[in-house]
Amino acid sequence: MDVFRIEGPVRLSGSVRISGSKNASLPIMAAAILGAGKSTLRAVPRLSDISVCNELLGRLGCKIVREDDGRLSIDSTVIDNPVGEYEIVRRMRASICILGPLLARCRRAEVSMPGGCAIGDRPVDLHIKGLRELGAQIQLKNGYIVAEAPNGLRGKDIFMGGPFGSTVLGTANVLMAATLARGRTTIESAACEPEIADLADCLNKMGAKIGGIGSPRLVIEGVEQLHPVDYEVIPDRIEAGTFFVAAAITAGELRIENCRLSDMMAVVDRLRNMGVTIDAEGQGCVVSRRGPIGTADVTTQPYPGFPTDLQAQFMALLALAEGNSVVIEKVFPDRFMHVAELNRMAANLRKEGSAVIIAGVRKLIAAPVMASDLRASAALVLAGLAAEGLTTIDRVYHIDRGYERIEERLNPLGAKITRENV
Ligand code: EPZ
Repeated sequence: MDVFRIEGPVRLSGSVRISGSKNASLPIMAAAILGAGKSTLRAVPRLSDISVCNELLGRLGCKIVREDDGRLSIDSTVIDNPVGEYEIVRRMRASICILGPLLARCRRAEVSMPGGCAIGDRPVDLHIKGLRELGAQIQLKNGYIVAEAPNGLRGKDIFMGGPFGSTVLGTANVLMAATLARGRTTIESAACEPEIADLADCLNKMGAKIGGIGSPRLVIEGVEQLHPVDYEVIPDRIEAGTFFVAAAITAGELRIENCRLSDMMAVVDRLRNMGVTIDAEGQGCVVSRRGPIGTADVTTQPYPGFPTDLQAQFMALLALAEGNSVVIEKVFPDRFMHVAELNRMAANLRKEGSAVIIAGVRKLIAAPVMASDLRASAALVLAGLAAEGLTTIDRVYHIDRGYERIEERLNPLGAKITRENV
């Protein structure tokens, strides 16, 4: 197992290019199931979650080739095993997004029910509800969701909101299934995340007829068939936001290439309020901090609200703010595994239900800490860059799920991170 040793504090400077979005790539890879033939996806990041998705699609019958120039080709001519096995789904919950496309194309799918994870319960009831409304018969058998639509799916008006608002992958599943349903489907309270808009753009390029893209009401006119596609995924706004915080927490200056500020307004707004300078430049921006870190109230919400996937990273930054801040988590109310670890680094964070009260400290102090999930581990790396001394982060495989060799991206900017296999 790999560990990181991070020597701090450092001040970062230089340029970094943001990769293609993981959370856009995963559903778009599943969408390739819908258009029998060879699709080519561009800018798909080299991450362990993407490798798991390759394996998942491979078991269905797809042939996947990763080209040297970053292209990923998925040949979905043959799908002869419409099953998402437990052994894969338990490694990556996003595997659930093959359910809708398999059902639409093969009229049958069996996908292991994902379990909970370090960020909470993560039910899939809304995915199932939406697909049932399209006419699928769905049962739970031996831990598997067994879905059938022997006569195909039928368009319907569907409300997809749940107790925490919209669902990203639930919307992806129902949207993909609806593209091949007979008639018109309306998804009300659809997720508006840029990754869903990217999926919808890709589906339209495959021949789907989706309107209302980027809004909470998606209208889908079913078509007979979709065709393969050549498509480039959007830049990763969460990776970009993580580098923004890296610049801010180290009082550095980073030129962030290939990021869409228009997808990140809630994040930009919070950072500017905290005294961080963000200037648009070319296809990206320059992020820097000179003065002290200001306090902030951050409430996570579905897009266009503040993203839950940057909550942990912001908490590392707010730990060093001049005064008290509050973070309220409204998407995954238990997503706080990083709180205890940041406190081991001399932060002063107090959890109160789904909120954390942060009393800013003057400095963080290095400690051995444990990565628990992808974004929590990113927060620990950021804290390690600013902390005094040598921070050791155990279970680095969590961070490799969503950030490609992050140490090789940060070290040229002035970080001192070594990866060791222990
Ligand atoms: C996606 O997960 C992302 N994953 C997550 O990113 C992200 O944190 C999350 O959206 C929220 O933005 C991918 O895109 C691969 P949800 P998803 O369904 O779709 C509740 C990362 O770090 N809910 O939008 O699984 C749910 O419990 C990952 O990259 C139901 O109640 O999240 C949560 O409270 C982690 N019933 C809320 O909705 C359902 O059927 C939002 O979850 C589904 C969800």
